[in-house]
Amino acid sequence: MTELARTAAQMVAPGKGILAADESIATMSARLEKTGVAPTEENRRAYRELLVTTPRLASGISGVILCDETFRQSLADGRTFPEAMAQLGLLPGIKVDTGARHLAGAPGETVTEGLDGLRERLAEYAALGARFAKWRAVVGIGAGTGTGAGQPSPWKVRADAHALARYAALCQEAGIVPIVEPEVLMEGAHGTARCAAVTSEVLRAVFAELEAAGVDLEGIVLKPNMVVPGRDSFEVVTPDEVARATVTVLRAAVDERVAGIAFLSGGQSAARATAHLAAMQRLETPWPLTFSFGRGLVDPALAAWHGEPGRVSAGQRALAHRVACNTAALQGTYTDALEDAHAPA
Ligand code: 13P
Repeated sequence: MTELARTAAQMVAPGKGILAADESIATMSARLEKTGVAPTEENRRAYRELLVTTPRLASGISGVILCDETFRQSLADGRTFPEAMAQLGLLPGIKVDTGARHLAGAPGETVTEGLDGLRERLAEYAALGARFAKWRAVVGIGAGTGTGAGQPSPWKVRADAHALARYAALCQEAGIVPIVEPEVLMEGAHGTARCAAVTSEVLRAVFAELEAAGVDLEGIVLKPNMVVPGRDSFEVVTPDEVARATVTVLRAAVDERVAGIAFLSGGQSAARATAHLAAMQRLETPWPLTFSFGRGLVDPALAAWHGEPGRVSAGQRALAHRVACNTAALQGTYTDALEDAHAPA
């Protein structure tokens, strides 16, 4: 096994998931403001310190993804985030894309950027302690007949897949495991079938480009969306239906050599994302299926903390509760009662 494959296997080790705490400065500031917390550099730092120092976090979390700002910040005790995380048994991860921008030739669509200078940035992040990285492509599904019909366009899908493959190859060259994240968004009124078709098209394009770029699939973690109806759809689906639809798409489009699949939560409620993850464990797959949730893990913690130093442990209890629910989902012991039983005061 290569060093990259060993790290990737650690990221998706049995009973563990990945915590996505890599919101950009703008996104994190907006979330703090929405919660009534001043969007300062210090509050962004303090919030991430709360997350990574949650007692026994490493029992259910293999690694934490941070953004550039946090990666260079320090805990109150002076250790940098990556140093402290390594000591806490958490693999340090870094988001390296620079966001989605309008894609020329595809009106109303975006491509994720960040390839310029990426080799040098990855070398620096590796020296600072990064063991894995993340790059997120975002794919919107257009509405039936109006503007956006026909989206995603083939050109957009190809451009994002190509960028993901170039990113993944550069990461592996630097000894860093790439999380390859093509996210089909929940925005829209489309049903499950359309989400399945688009997710399948996107994943096939991504794996064709990864192969063309010579990426070692045992040394990547795939981070896809679950196959769910759009937010404005009236379709009602059970967790078992979501699990079946998702696993059917993945089995047809994802190479068996991939180290593991870690889902994003994508704006589903925290409990719903966990129920879907639990239902998927009952299906046969060639890869471990785990979580790499952002909002699905941290939203309750942010609300419980509320920016008050005296409420750090309330925030940590809220995060620990979500981690416990999700690790129970992985182990087949998740129940509604567990969801309620440990709910923080
Ligand atoms: P969500 O789980 O909130 O979708 O975030 C995961 C993530 O890392 C998005 O890039």
